[in-house]
Order: sequence, then structure tokens, then C-alpha cells
Amino acid sequence: MASSLTLVTLLLLMVSLISPSQSATCQSQTFTSNRLYTFCNDLPSLNSYLHWTYDPANSTLSLSFIATPARPNGWIAWAINPTSTGMVGSQALIAFQDSKGAMTVKTYNITSYNPLTESKVWYEVKESSAEISGGVMRIFATIVLPEKGKSTVNHVWQVGPSVTTGVPDKHEFQPANLNSKGSLDLLKGQSTASTDGGSRTKKKNIHGILNVVSWGIMFPIGIIIARYVRTFPSADPAWFYLHIICQVSAYAIGVAGWGTGLKLGSESKGVRYTGHRNIGIALFSLATLQIFALLLRPKKDHKFRFYWNIYHHGIGYTVLVLSIINVFKGLDILKPEQKWKDAYIILIAVLGGIALLLEAITWIIVLRRKSRKSTKPYDGLNNGHGRQEPLAP
Ligand SMILES: *[C@@H]1O[C@H](CO)[C@@H](O)[C@H](O)[C@H]1NC(C)=O
Ligand SMILES: *[C@@H]1O[C@H](CO)[C@@H](O)[C@H](O)[C@H]1NC(C)=O
Repeated sequence: MASSLTLVTLLLLMVSLISPSQSATCQSQTFTSNRLYTFCNDLPSLNSYLHWTYDPANSTLSLSFIATPARPNGWIAWAINPTSTGMVGSQALIAFQDSKGAMTVKTYNITSYNPLTESKVWYEVKESSAEISGGVMRIFATIVLPEKGKSTVNHVWQVGPSVTTGVPDKHEFQPANLNSKGSLDLLKGQSTASTDGGSRTKKKNIHGILNVVSWGIMFPIGIIIARYVRTFPSADPAWFYLHIICQVSAYAIGVAGWGTGLKLGSESKGVRYTGHRNIGIALFSLATLQIFALLLRPKKDHKFRFYWNIYHHGIGYTVLVLSIINVFKGLDILKPEQKWKDAYIILIAVLGGIALLLEAITWIIVLRRKSRKSTKPYDGLNNGHGRQEPLAP
């Protein structure tokens, strides 16, 4: 248990990871062809910058968005979201190199994470152009906002790795790509980071920690206790209570983690992690069955106990395998620093090593017991029957 406590502490540190650093780089950025903007802003993620001038009398916004695409042949995008925050619903200007290598700007009404199709957008584009220099792309545009007098907008920006036959490909889903949104006061010149970005990352980290600790660590330890500790007659019935305490608390933490996952899923309008979600729901159902298994457990010598054992162990091992798969799926979604994934792999390897060692010891003990008492009908190594019985005199 000490190792899992250390890991909990380490994982808790993860929550406090993201701290944006800011310095006004944009003020030193200059433009050719006499472009001058009233305001500029170093955007809080993806090394992006926005320069703009807004005239509220005719709702005209003239802007320059500067960013580096994820790869040299990628794209950069700046968008206003008139209905919501985040990417879905946003009205985007996307710049990339066309098939001839010339920079082009196109508009997109982004309704989902599906492949993009060029379309009209919520605002009118008076003029737009783009350039690339030293790997850095710049979008220039003059747009007219349809809502007069509204001077604060939700904006979103993004960078992508590639463009396939004129269609910008999906961007990555790193925290920087998901936090690249905010609210922009066109008249005061302030861009405030979107408030839900940070708290969502925090929620995801809490979801990750609860589930790694319960499904990914405590359940496997509980199974090891049940399978191996009871081989030692002196550990009976202590192993049983240890197993129950471990699995019931794992279940409690796991249900909390599962709930945070459902909430995250319901709040995420565009992105769906179907596999992770379905395994999560299956895990919750199977673990709940295990709680019923505890309540419906027949006595040791009851004739149904044999079937109950098959049922309980079958579900237990299924939960074990699915939990570990889902922890890795979750790690791939959350993408914490590599060391967290490494730490979990090491922990699972250590638990696996301990299980192998105990498996060997169990075999030795059971085989010895069998040679002393060779007339028993089944020794039960596979169904766990025999090991519960006291050593033959
Ligand atoms: C909006 O008004 C400004 C200042 O009066 C002017 O310079 C600009 O050309 C106007 N833009 C449009 C699209 O009418
Ligand atoms: C963008 O697409 C949505 C969904 O198809 C539609 O309701 C909306 O009117 C579109 N917006 C514009 C500006 O075309």
C-alpha cells in the first residue's frame, strides 16, 4: 500500500501543473505595408498573437493573427464564436498554403469535429490575406461583425499539422490546443483566458487521479490479496476483510471517478472518447455486480458456491483487465507528461511481478499440500476452492 500512497501524492502534484507565463512579445512585432493596429495581445497558449483595431461605429474589426503551424505544411486559425465558447460553433479564418504553395485564407462555419468544408460565416469578410515567413504564418483580415454595439467576443485560435487536398486536418488535443480560447474585449484591448479552460483541465486531472487510484491500483491489489494471501492458513480470515476493505473503498473512489468522467463527457460537446467511455460504463456495471456478489455469497460448503466462485472470479479478472486498458486509454486522452505514464507502467509491472512470485509460492504450497493429501476430489488451484481449506494434518 505504501507504493500506492506515494503514487497518490505524485499524482496530486499533477493537478497543479499548468501555469501560463506571459510577456508582451506582440508589442515588438511589426508589419510591412503600413499596417497599424490599436491593440495587441500575447494569447495565452500555442505561442499566438493577435493585433487588431475595432471601429464600433461600423462594427469593423481589422486584425492580424500570428502563429506557427504545428508542422511547416500545417495551418493556423483564428475564430469568433458568437454562440458559445470553444471550437464548436466558431466562425473561423484558416490560413494555409494551397497546392501551388501560395498562402490562402478561407472561412469555415465549424459545426463539429468532422472534416471542414469552406462556408460563409457569421461575419462579413471585407478583405483577407495571409503570409508566411520563417515558418510563422500571419492572417490579415478586415471583418464586419453583424451585431452592432457588441464589443466583447469569444474567440478561439488553433494550429494544425497538415492540409490534405485543400482541407485542414485535425489538430492535436494537447492541453494547449484545448485551452486556446478566451474572451476578447475589442475596445479595451484585453483578452482574458477562458475561465472554463483551467477548471476543466483540473477536473480532468481529478478524474484521472481518482480512477487510476481506484480501478488502476486498488482493484488489482485487492485481487492479489484475495488470490494469494489466503494461501496462508494463518491469514484466514484476515485476507477476506482486507480484500473487502480494499475493493469496497476502491469501488467508492471508482464510482466518484466514474461520475466525474460522465460529467466531463456530458460537458464535452465536440469530442467523444467512445471507447474510453464504454469501457468505463462496463467497468462500473461489472464492479456493481461484484458488490452484489458480496451480498449474495453462499456459504463455503453450499453447493452453489462453486458457481459463485466462477462468477465472482470471472468478473474480477475482467474488471482487472478492462481497468488497466482504460487507464491507458485515459492517459492517452489526458496526455500528462510521460513520467506519469512511466510511473503507472512501473507500478503495474511491480504488482505483476509480485503476483507472479506469489503464484509460484502458491503452486509450491498447494502441490505440497496435495502430495500430503492425495485423495481429495479437487485441489482447486483453478477455482480457488482447495486453498481455503486448512492444511491436512
Ligand atoms: C469604418 O469606419 C472607419 C472610420 O470611420 C473607416 O476608416 C472604415 O473605412 C469604415 N469601414 C467600413 C467597412 O465601412
Ligand atoms: C453554421 O452552421 C450551423 C449548423 O449547420 C447553422 O445553424 C448556422 O446558421 C451556420 N452559420 C452560418 C453563419 O452560416
